[in-house]
Amino acid sequence: MEIITAAYSGFCYGVKRAVNLTLEAVSNDSPRPVRTLGPIIHNPQMVSYLESKGVRVTDDVTAVTEGTLIIRSHGVGPEIYRQAEERRLLLLDATCPHVKKAQLAAKKLTVEGYQVVIAGERDHPEVRGIQEWSGNCAVVVENTEEAAALPVNSRLALIAQTTFSATIFQEITAVLRRQCEELHVESTICTATDQRRKAAIELAGQVEVIVVAGGKNSANTARLAQACRDAGCRQVYLVETAAELQPAWFNEAKKAGITAGASTPDWIIEEVKQTMEKFNETEAEEEKNTQNESGDFIAHIKTEAIVRLETGTIIPGKVVGVRKDEVFVDIGYKGEGRISLAELDYPVPENAADVISEGQLINVLVLDADTDVNGHVTLSKIQADRIVAWEELEKAVQDKTPVEAKITGVIKGGLNAAVFGLRAFIPASQSALRFVEDLQPFVGQTFLTLPIELDQSKQRIVLSRKAILAEEQEKKEQEILARLQPGTIIAGTVTRLADFGAFVDVGGMDGLVHISDLAWQRVKTPAEVVTVGDAVQVVVLKVDPAAKRISLSLKQVERDPWLDAVDEYNANDLLPGTVTKIAKFGAFVELKKGVEGLVHLSELSDRRVASAEEVVSEGQKVTVKILSVDKQNKKISLSMSQAQQDKERAEFQQFLDTQPQSGTLTLGDQFAHLFKKQD
Ligand code: F3S
Repeated sequence: MEIITAAYSGFCYGVKRAVNLTLEAVSNDSPRPVRTLGPIIHNPQMVSYLESKGVRVTDDVTAVTEGTLIIRSHGVGPEIYRQAEERRLLLLDATCPHVKKAQLAAKKLTVEGYQVVIAGERDHPEVRGIQEWSGNCAVVVENTEEAAALPVNSRLALIAQTTFSATIFQEITAVLRRQCEELHVESTICTATDQRRKAAIELAGQVEVIVVAGGKNSANTARLAQACRDAGCRQVYLVETAAELQPAWFNEAKKAGITAGASTPDWIIEEVKQTMEKFNETEAEEEKNTQNESGDFIAHIKTEAIVRLETGTIIPGKVVGVRKDEVFVDIGYKGEGRISLAELDYPVPENAADVISEGQLINVLVLDADTDVNGHVTLSKIQADRIVAWEELEKAVQDKTPVEAKITGVIKGGLNAAVFGLRAFIPASQSALRFVEDLQPFVGQTFLTLPIELDQSKQRIVLSRKAILAEEQEKKEQEILARLQPGTIIAGTVTRLADFGAFVDVGGMDGLVHISDLAWQRVKTPAEVVTVGDAVQVVVLKVDPAAKRISLSLKQVERDPWLDAVDEYNANDLLPGTVTKIAKFGAFVELKKGVEGLVHLSELSDRRVASAEEVVSEGQKVTVKILSVDKQNKKISLSMSQAQQDKERAEFQQFLDTQPQSGTLTLGDQFAHLFKKQD
C-alpha cells in the first residue's frame, strides 16, 4: 500500500507561531506561571503536552494575578490588553497576523466614520475580538439574508473572519453594494484553511482510504473529513491519534492518504504515517507466511484478529449478494453481514435490487456484532447513511450548499421529502417562489433544496426549495440587468397588469411599461392595449441594476405618429375627429391614432359656453379646423366654431355658384340668419 500525505496539512503559520511562542515561554525565564487565555489550539493532545510542560489554561484574565499570559492566534479585544497591563502580567501576543490585520482595520474604519460589518460566525472568539476593536460598533452578519436585512447606510466597510467562506463573503459583498453609496471591502480571509481543503480533495481523488488526523472537537477537521467524502472517497476515517487506526481499514487499499487540519501537530501526522507503514509491513509478513504454509497464494482472507468488530460502529463493506428482501455484505469478518430490506434504504424499497447491486462498496452500521443462527452479523445501511447524512446536512447548513431531495408526499402544510435517506419537511411556503395551490404534482420529483433547520434530537429537517429558486432567480436577474442595453428592442411576454402599467417578462425578469409608454394615443387602462400572455416587442428605456428595475416602452417600437402629422397637417385644414377627453379648458379631439389637438372653450361654439360638456361629449365625432401646429411642443390648436363657419361659407359659395345671375330673391333674404348670428 502506497501512503501519500496531502500537499498541505497540519499546522498553519498562525498556529505554529502560537505554539512555538508558548513552548519558548516555558523553556526560558518568562514569569511563572505561564498561562494561555483559552486553549492555545483545538487539539487535546497538544494541549495535554503543553500542560505537561507547565502551561496552564485560563478563561478569565481577571482571575490571573501574576506570571505570563499568552494571547492565542484568535486574538482578543483591547480590554484584555488593558487588564493584563493593570495586573502587571507579561503579555505574549500570539494573535495571528491575519487576525491582527482585521482588528486594526475594524478600528481604523470605525474612526473614519464607516459602519463596519464583519462577515463571520457571531460567537467565534476571533469575531468577538474584532468587534471589540471597533468599539463594539461593528455589526456581524453570518449570511446574505442577514446582510440584506441591515439598515441602509451611506458608508459601509466589510471585514471577514479569517476562516470565513470566500464564496459567501463575495455574495455578502454583492448584497451590501446594493445597500450603500460607498462600500469599503477589507479582504482578511486566510488561505491556509482553503489550501488544506483543496489538497485533501486532490488526495481523495487518488486514494481508496483517507485518514484525517485532528481533534474531534475541531470544526475545521470535521469539514476536512467531509470534503474528502464529498470528493468521492468512500473510506474516510477521522482519528485524534495513531492508536485509533485499524488495520482492517486498509485491507483492500492500494493507496491510502493522510491529511490533517491546521491545528494538528506534525508529530501526530508522523505517528499516523508510521503506524500505517507498520500495517503495510505486517500485511506483507502475513501474506508471506500464508504463501509459505500452503505453497500457493491464497486470496486475501481477513481474520477475526484483524477486524475488531463492535456493535454501534460504522465500517466499510462490499455487497456480495442481493436478494429481494435482504443483502449480504463482505465486511472482512468470519461471517458475512446481512442487511434486511427495512435497514436498506428510505423509503423502504420493494426489492433490494432496486437500490443496490453486487460489488457496490457501502458503509454499514453494526447493529449486532454477534453472529445470528445463520452466522451473519446484523447490519444496517440506512442507519450508517443517516449518521453520515446528518454530518452532511450540518455541513450543508453551515456552508449553505444545496442538497437533493425527493418529494415523497403531500402533508398538512407542505411536502414530505427524502434527503440522504432521511425524512425531511418542505413547508408549502418554501416549495416554490410563489404560492402553489396544489402541491400534488411535486410528488415523485427531485429538487435541489437548502436545509434551513436541523434538529437531530427531534429528527427534524426543514428544507427550502424557494431559497434555491430565489438564488437562481437572482443570478438570472443579474445576468439580464448586465445584458440589457437602453435603446434596444427585445421580445417579451405580458405577465401582469396594474393601474399604472403592464409588466413584461423579458427572459426571466419583469420590466415595467408605464401606462404613458404603452401607446402613442391616450390610454385610460393598460387593458385597452395589452392582455396578460401577449407576446410583445418592447424598447428598453432604462436599466437600474441597483434597484433591479427595467423600464420599457411598447409605443416606441412604432414610429411616433406625430412625426407624420407635422408634415400632413396645415393651418386652416378642415378635418374629422373624435372627442377623447373633456377638460375644464376645452376638449381634446383625436385626429388620427396617437395625434390629438385641443379645442379651447372659446373655439367650441359661436355662442359663449361655460363648460365643454354643453357642446360635446367623449366619443363624439366632430369636424375641426386646424388653427396652428406647434411642432416643437407637439400641440395642435383646433376650432369647432370656425370649422362650422367655414363649412357654412363653403355651402353658401356652392349655392351662389349654382344660382342664375337674375332673380327676385336677394342674398339678404336667403342668408339673413347667418348675418344675424355674426352680430
Ligand atoms: Fe492565522 Fe490562517 Fe492559521 S488566520 S491562525 S494562518 S488559519
